[in-house]
Amino acid sequence: MPDSSPNPLVVAVVGATGAVGRTMTQVLLEKQLPITELRLLASARSAGRTVTVAGTDYTVGLATPEAFEGVDIALFSAGGGTSKELAPEAAKRGCTVIDNSSAWRMDPDVPLVVSQVNPDDLAWHEGIIANPNCSTMQLMPPLMALRDAVGIERIIVDTYQSVAGTGHKAIVELEEQVKAHAEGREKVANVYPHPIAFNALPHIDVFLDNGYTKEEWKVVTESRKILHLPELRVSCTAVRVPVFISHSEAVHVETRDPITPAEAREVFGRVKGVVVQDDPSANLYPLATEAAGSDEVYVGRVRQDPSIDGNRGLAFWVVSDNLRKGAASNAVEIAEALIERGWVRKASERQPVWAGGRTA
Ligand code: A2P
Repeated sequence: MPDSSPNPLVVAVVGATGAVGRTMTQVLLEKQLPITELRLLASARSAGRTVTVAGTDYTVGLATPEAFEGVDIALFSAGGGTSKELAPEAAKRGCTVIDNSSAWRMDPDVPLVVSQVNPDDLAWHEGIIANPNCSTMQLMPPLMALRDAVGIERIIVDTYQSVAGTGHKAIVELEEQVKAHAEGREKVANVYPHPIAFNALPHIDVFLDNGYTKEEWKVVTESRKILHLPELRVSCTAVRVPVFISHSEAVHVETRDPITPAEAREVFGRVKGVVVQDDPSANLYPLATEAAGSDEVYVGRVRQDPSIDGNRGLAFWVVSDNLRKGAASNAVEIAEALIERGWVRKASERQPVWAGGRTA
């Protein structure tokens, strides 16, 4: 589709001093996007500081509405409050925001996109695009494959989530508690309500009135929006575990039509960015430590769920780096898709004006 993609391209990262923000900058540099200026922004706490990413020093600027003047694409990972306040200001100034917070995900006017699952939804953006929650993100490529092959009726997912998803302070807290344990000191918990070292906390984000946590409910609502299945039945238990990086998920899917594990491995393996690691006889299955540092979604332990009749039940294990594919890499892949397709500008400002309409 013809368009006016900006050239040269000015890109900003908001929350650039945080765990995800640093990874966003690193991935932007790795993927060698055609960027002529990179602005790293954060709060007054770290404005003026220097951060070094991939050997290059950057001075951190203050994230204000004016900081987005002349910026084409901004990747945000600075919390929901910052996104609520600054994303519209950036969009008003002609910048397209790819936001990693939960602030805009369920807004019907904001596309919620996993790069290899529903990139066509980017066509109708009006300046803000949402990056899904990390636990939803890694679940979507294998579920898309099953949706397209045999249809999906119901999903039960239990997560085993790393502390990196909480941010840099949680990584430091786990390290400190492990040291305290080894030295016989008390394990002090500040970030989580209980020590995370040697523990499993069934509590991620706040509790809702229905008894689920907000993290669990994000998996329910975001999955429906991304897969374009508004009635999909989903239940989730989200658990924080003492792993530094990468989330793991035990997934149970009830499909519409029958499918065998061998067929499922084949359809999973055909999805861009999905790697099947499934040879129990060689102790081969996806591992958090192995997935850390890569952009792939790893799937293994694929087996028939005998609690559902007619070969319509599958169980499997999904692992991915939550800082990379679960956040930073998907945001950068969205930026790449916008550039490639000529969709950096808002749908209403593109020439010719987008006339397709939404698919959600
Ligand atoms: P700062 O270093 O100035 O606090 P993490 O999730 O790893 O804790 O990181 C959060 C990121 O969000 C940090 O870069 C932090 O910057 C940034 N941030 C937090 N509040 C704001 C704000 N009000 N404006 C801009 N950036 C913010």
